[in-house]
Amino acid sequence: MGPAAIGVDFGTSNSAAAVLSGGRAVMIPLEAGRETLPTAVFLDYAARATLIGSAAVGAMIEGRDGRFMRALKSILGTPLARERRQFLNRRLTLLDIVAEFLTEVRARAEATLGRPVDRVVAGRPVRFHSADPVRNAKAAEDLAECYAMAGFREVRFLAEPEAAARATGVGSGLGLIVDIGGGTSDFTLFEPAERGIRVIASHGIRLGGTDFDRMLSLARVMPLLGMGGQLRNELGPGLHVVPQALFHELASWEKIAFLYSPATLREVRLWARQAVEPRRLGRLVSVIEDEMGHDVAFAVEAAKLAANDHGSGAVDLSMVETGLRPVLAAADLAEVLAPPAWQIGLAIGETLGTAGVSPQDVARVIFVGGSSLLGAVDRQVRALFPAAAFERSDVFTAVVRGLALAAAET
Ligand SMILES: Nc1ncnc2c1ncn2[C@@H]1O[C@H](COP(=O)(O)OP(=O)(O)OP(=O)(O)O)[C@@H](O)[C@H]1O
Ligand SMILES: [Mg+2]
Repeated sequence: MGPAAIGVDFGTSNSAAAVLSGGRAVMIPLEAGRETLPTAVFLDYAARATLIGSAAVGAMIEGRDGRFMRALKSILGTPLARERRQFLNRRLTLLDIVAEFLTEVRARAEATLGRPVDRVVAGRPVRFHSADPVRNAKAAEDLAECYAMAGFREVRFLAEPEAAARATGVGSGLGLIVDIGGGTSDFTLFEPAERGIRVIASHGIRLGGTDFDRMLSLARVMPLLGMGGQLRNELGPGLHVVPQALFHELASWEKIAFLYSPATLREVRLWARQAVEPRRLGRLVSVIEDEMGHDVAFAVEAAKLAANDHGSGAVDLSMVETGLRPVLAAADLAEVLAPPAWQIGLAIGETLGTAGVSPQDVARVIFVGGSSLLGAVDRQVRALFPAAAFERSDVFTAVVRGLALAAAET
């Protein structure tokens, strides 16, 4: 057998690969016993190795010496992507790091399939950046370059919700894919056609689970680390509010890795000295000093899932301060996630609007993506479609299965 063509879904939070086998799209396990792997990288400084997936997350949690990165897809198309940075003895751009991740994905697929893999149909969001077509095009270029660096000789892109539509099967009547992922929300309206499906309209916005994590963190956790607190003026009497930017970065998955610098540490230590309430900013100093930003973000995400599934969840910040475990309740989720859920509803309206289709005409709505499991999102979407049947099966793998189907058509 010659070289293989596979489908790869490089997601903001999770990635996956699949291939056509016996007429079906079959997952290529990239980690033992799992169909998907976390889109995470750990540059291990002691071992001088690059770890990906669960191994990367494990190394970060253990507190090994190195740099952990997650949500790297979000930086595609931004100036950050091509900035060179020093990582121990290597100077790398973030695109180099994405390429290392994809190189490892390709190597693991080759090992599983027992033959070379040199072609890929890769997923891409309809829009990486909602309102900026130049940045959007740049992001697609960046991602193409990463796949090329990873050794894929031929790269074709397919919009993620269109791939999911293919995998979903023809069904009857108008179908709508609602893919709410980690970084973007993507929509495809489709109908049955002579061979497979016909795409009527696709649309997307840059809004997903990592944004929900950021919003929850800013609303309920960052205030406990001093956000919104007051500092005494250095010269003369009077107070001013502690600057906000750092809290936004600490709450954003893709920015956390770049916060740890001597300059930032000096600054937050100064704030703690000037603080009216030094205890809270003291916690911020610990987070920056001990590089616990990702631990905080994981704690927020875990509490989000627990609050969604069980009605409440503690944000376990005991690594920052013993006993610090603020509770996120379902009501917090409902309140904080109402505006983004509304935005998703609006974007769905735009998708239908461009096609001149009314919600009444949609026969099936297919939920895809991890964040479609959030009650706040689910309720918002269901309310829009009084006449539709709702389906949710392989939320984490529908996209990559569709990419594998497309990869076989070359
Ligand atoms: N059970 C769940 N309930 C709610 N949210 C969940 C659940 N499981 C995962 N998530 C959230 O779903 C998001 C990841 O979803 P998914 O894997 O579909 O994204 P992705 O494909 O990596 O991202 P994108 O397609 O936007 O690039 C994360 O933000 C995660 O917190
Ligand atoms: Mg996705």
